[in-house]
Amino acid sequence: MVSRLLAFFLIPTALFAQVKDAAARADSVLALMTLEELVGQTNQYNGFWNATGPMPEGNDWLEARVKALKNGLVGSVLNVSGVNEVRALQKVVVEETRLGIPLIFGLDVIHGYRSLSPIPLAEASSWDLEAIEASAHAAALEATSDGINWTFAPMVDISRDPRWGRVMEGAGEDPYLGSRIAEARVRGFQGKDLADPSTLAACLKHFSGYGFPLAGRDYATTDFSAHTLYNWILPPFEAGVRAGAATVMTAFSAANGIPSTLDSAQLWGELRGRMGFDGVVVSDWGSIAETIAHGHAKDLREAARLSLAAGCDVDMESDAYLRYGLELARSNRSDSLRFRESARRILELKFKLGLMDDPYLYCKQKSLPDVRPQAYEMAVKSTVLLKNKGILPLNPSLRVGLTGPFAADKNGVLGNWRVSAKDQSAQSLAEATEASWLFAPSAPHSIGPEAFATELTLNSTDFSGNDRALKALRSQQVLVLAIGEHGYESGEGRSRASLRISLVQQDLVRKAFKTGKPVVLVVYAGRPLILEPWMQDGAAAILWAWQPGSMGGSAVADVLKGLREPYGRLPMTFVRSEGQIPLHYDGFSSGRPGPKTEVFWSHYTDESNTPAFPFGFGLSYTSFDYKNLRVQPSNTGWTATLTLSNTGTRAGSEVVQLYSSRLGNGQLYPTKALKGFQRVTLEPGEVRDVQLILTREALRQRDGLGKSHPFERGTLGITLGPNSSEGLTWTTDLP
Ligand code: GLC
Repeated sequence: MVSRLLAFFLIPTALFAQVKDAAARADSVLALMTLEELVGQTNQYNGFWNATGPMPEGNDWLEARVKALKNGLVGSVLNVSGVNEVRALQKVVVEETRLGIPLIFGLDVIHGYRSLSPIPLAEASSWDLEAIEASAHAAALEATSDGINWTFAPMVDISRDPRWGRVMEGAGEDPYLGSRIAEARVRGFQGKDLADPSTLAACLKHFSGYGFPLAGRDYATTDFSAHTLYNWILPPFEAGVRAGAATVMTAFSAANGIPSTLDSAQLWGELRGRMGFDGVVVSDWGSIAETIAHGHAKDLREAARLSLAAGCDVDMESDAYLRYGLELARSNRSDSLRFRESARRILELKFKLGLMDDPYLYCKQKSLPDVRPQAYEMAVKSTVLLKNKGILPLNPSLRVGLTGPFAADKNGVLGNWRVSAKDQSAQSLAEATEASWLFAPSAPHSIGPEAFATELTLNSTDFSGNDRALKALRSQQVLVLAIGEHGYESGEGRSRASLRISLVQQDLVRKAFKTGKPVVLVVYAGRPLILEPWMQDGAAAILWAWQPGSMGGSAVADVLKGLREPYGRLPMTFVRSEGQIPLHYDGFSSGRPGPKTEVFWSHYTDESNTPAFPFGFGLSYTSFDYKNLRVQPSNTGWTATLTLSNTGTRAGSEVVQLYSSRLGNGQLYPTKALKGFQRVTLEPGEVRDVQLILTREALRQRDGLGKSHPFERGTLGITLGPNSSEGLTWTTDLP
């Protein structure tokens, strides 16, 4: 129960029944609070043990935190989970502090909780918004059953740089797909009512531009144009705000000469002003204090003052607000008002979550629901078939040999953000195959411990396991090699300068090719990796499995066997070489687009301009034919209709994608831009008209000053195709 004092002062029960407005109820509590208690609400601590970021040195910090907790100077915590742990901490705050204002419990429920779905970039490959929403809802069901009420997800950072380890956490390079997925994830986490104890407050992160670090190196300064900011980076945040996201997290990074956590123009101007966000802004882990390391704030006091002024309501793990907030509030009326505003937003969220009426609302459930079926479904829908010379689906009569470092792996395939799943808890591919399959271990991919916060040590010397494996599989007729990167090679703090498959794995692939048997490559990765040309050429098939989570074993096995079809389409461009980065489908033309016979055009002398695999690409086990595109103008835009045929022998689904191109309207536009998509499932031989709509509104673009412009004159192109590099195009000249 809430504390006696708080209960006495809260709006009387009779009245409360009418006053549903969380803001009004928050105001009634604010009136009771001391300045110190207001500041306390803005302070967020880690759960003292399960750190997802650098922890303070020494041990005295622990006593100080417990004291702060008991004095009502902590408003929320992260990385505390489990009904008993949550209840115990909540009890301290509710019963031992003056006002008994309950804590919010936050956690990175990024792609599942105990049972992990595939990494978000994999889920984005499904282009299936319903499945993505269901996956987020399943994660919410599990996490809330363990006392969690706030997730630091969805990460909506657009990125075109596969060197950056956190591409695994987002939805890829496109703002339209990224926006639809942001909406789906917010809906999935938050449901229809945050007070429903099976829903989580969502958190759009990292505001903003964190996905554009220089040279792909995490935490580095980001660099992007205003045009990119307004037309690529911000739209998924706008979509998430429109979908009702309760919170937003600032970015570690700096952009345009200011750390994001201190950027008033972005936080007040864009987020709260233009987008109308009125929820809670939380700093990323320690990012208020890190503005000193950035060279911007001269000390923690100034960092606190500047981030508060910029509109950052909650201080995650900087201790800045707790150490200097009271002094700032007492010495400066505007800071006092800002703390009051931030505390009001935090209290409002607590009312919306139902915690003020029942602090133990999320501590009722006893057992975690079994959400593995959703994890399996999402893992199937996340796989992307990049090549198939007819070997897939595998004929059940074939003797299959399975090897490669990720064939029996139960840990790396969980991905990086698995703070709540148990290590080694994934179902491996080897565990999910038939008796007719034979598994043989190859040389290990890594040696030594596998941990969230430490570098993985890759095996670069012991190749011997490869020969043993291929010898053991010598009587098998087809080889399936599970290769790629471990979940702890991607994610936060894990940028890679090389995207190549490791040499030990290349040795295995090369020797497998030498057997003359068909070789299927199943690639586990948290990002687009680079498969050497000889590897791509020599493979009979390439199935991109990403990091498929807890149920990846049976999901990948079922796709290989044809029990399920490969369903995914790439949400991010796959480069041929690191030198091409950043390479994205929606780039701009150039004054010299080429190709030309002489050198004076935009190209490399040693590499192609084209990707290895384009955005939107993915094969299925059947084939489709696109015919007869016709486009009808309407008063809101254009309706494009296409005749789609399944020309193969199996049922299958196709993601028909609509891209616009805009020329000659006095603004530079990307050569093409995704503006819609529709998944269509057809029986063999079935023919169907598929309709997609392009609105005039969707053609608007903001200029470098943020002003939005319509596309009213020039040449408009509408392309319907299976991916960003092919399709049928219709053009018209607008007056
Ligand atoms: C991490 C991440 C952020 C996460 C937070 C809490 O450093 O940058 O995405 O939500 O800290 O774990």
